[in-house]
Amino acid sequence: MTSGFWHGRRVFLTGHTGFKGSWMTLWLQSLGASITGYALEPPTRPSLFERASVAQGITSHIADVRDAETLSAHLAAAEPEVVIHMAAQPLVRASYRDPVLTYATNVMGTVHLLEAVRATPTVRAVVVVTSDKCYENREWVWGYREDEAMGGFDPYSSSKACAELVTSAWRRSYLAPEVGVASARAGNVIGGGDWAAERLIPDMIRAFGASRPAHIRNPQAIRPWQHVLEPISGYLQLAERLYHAPAQYAGGWNFGPAEEDARQVQWIAQRLVELWGQGAAWARDALPQLHEAHHLKLDCAKARSALNWQPRWTLATALQRIVEWHKAESTGADMRAFTLKQIEDYAQ
Ligand SMILES: NC(=O)c1ccc[n+]([C@@H]2O[C@H](COP(=O)([O-])OP(=O)(O)OC[C@H]3O[C@@H](n4cnc5c(N)ncnc54)[C@H](O)[C@@H]3O)[C@@H](O)[C@H]2O)c1
Repeated sequence: MTSGFWHGRRVFLTGHTGFKGSWMTLWLQSLGASITGYALEPPTRPSLFERASVAQGITSHIADVRDAETLSAHLAAAEPEVVIHMAAQPLVRASYRDPVLTYATNVMGTVHLLEAVRATPTVRAVVVVTSDKCYENREWVWGYREDEAMGGFDPYSSSKACAELVTSAWRRSYLAPEVGVASARAGNVIGGGDWAAERLIPDMIRAFGASRPAHIRNPQAIRPWQHVLEPISGYLQLAERLYHAPAQYAGGWNFGPAEEDARQVQWIAQRLVELWGQGAAWARDALPQLHEAHHLKLDCAKARSALNWQPRWTLATALQRIVEWHKAESTGADMRAFTLKQIEDYAQ
């Protein structure tokens, strides 16, 4: 990132009350951006949003992306130069239970956002955050490249593939070449302050806190694990490039970990148990499971060569940082300062 680019920059961020959105808001704040957030209430309790006082120093709207009129009005009033769209129903298992809500939020929410952008002439760059799960999964060992087929078995993955198609249509039909529109596909994101249900690390930390073994659903599944600051640094770099050269940087971008950090769930589980220490254990969940992809890796050569982006923290470092974060949180530390310090460490 160029020093000074974000200073005073007007940014409209959806999903700022969520896990990734809270890290993104704090990083942007530390760079001096002027942020308007738009999201529902934090999706969990506790939440990073509340623990790190993320609303402090920004304009925060608690509202729904399914409400096109309100979204449009707030985006127009904010007159943003950069828009980052993260609001979503982000969980695979929740999508099986409520597919209609998942598509309404993830697909029509993206349509509403891009329509609002179309009506707001100040916008120069848009980053739509989708997922590594947007690719049609072939259960192969290679990483997916940006030009591979979109797809998705479960409603969440499919909704993110649909959001990709929507983004591409709006870019080509309405927004290019003046507005740079890109989509970003990150891997399985981990970090301090995630309390989501049915996600590996939050489930394990909850179990450790209650002194019971963590139940692991798919110990052999391989996922591209990465600390939350990795994709966020990619989104920020991408937005800056899009701002300066919209046509050159438009399109899809993968932001995944190094090859060796696409690991089996059981590797992470074991490592986290060791780092946590006393009272931590895991066991295989014997209940029948819903379908989830087994192999999933991203090929990030494009981001590496065109953005000079690459992961900075190994998976082992990421896990270490998570344990430090949650141990500090459990002792009542100032989590805004603690989170900002982790951002500073990462940026250096
Ligand atoms: N966490 C991961 O491993 C991961 C991996 C790849 C992609 N992503 C994507 O990154 C983004 C953020 O994920 P997260 O892990 O921070 O999720 P999260 O659940 O912590 O946050 C989701 C955010 O979206 C908001 N939201 C949900 N429904 C909304 C609605 N109808 N209207 C307005 N706001 C709404 C929530 O209030 C919250 O601010 C999502 O788009 C997700 O699909 C996450």
